[in-house]
Amino acid sequence: MKILILHGPNLNLLGTREPEVYGSTTLDDINEKMTALGKELGVEVTCLQSNHEGALIDALHDARMWAGGVVFNPGGYTHTSVALRDAISAIAIPVIEVHLSNVYAREEFRHVSMISAVCKGKVSGFGWRSYELGLRGLVSFVADGIS
Ligand code: DQA
Repeated sequence: MKILILHGPNLNLLGTREPEVYGSTTLDDINEKMTALGKELGVEVTCLQSNHEGALIDALHDARMWAGGVVFNPGGYTHTSVALRDAISAIAIPVIEVHLSNVYAREEFRHVSMISAVCKGKVSGFGWRSYELGLRGLVSFVADGIS
């Protein structure tokens, strides 16, 4: 099985971006950890990041051709993007929403997610481990044949 780990805007700056909120782990660190975890779980992980909404939509459309599922941190687009929600609805593969921070412990505008209702599940607040939990959940979910 192949899995896409998709990161949205500003996540390329992890490590230096508001470390008190997002931690000191860089995006490369997260991608390395997820690639290693993928090997442990017997899946092939591909990691992509974009600051552009359209590029994220293209990546989701493309993933339906080759991936068994997606672990997706849409960054700030979480709270605004109907287009990303529609893209997730349009593809048949399961998508897990992940956030490093606990969005519910932050500003009110972060309590709203445009995409949660069309995702299979959501992990928020565990730092880089949100990705780990999301990937483990997605893989066992798909392995059980529930999609
Ligand atoms: C984030 C939370 C979002 O509210 C924020 O805009 C981000 C990162 C997170 O991983 O905690 O860019 O998705």
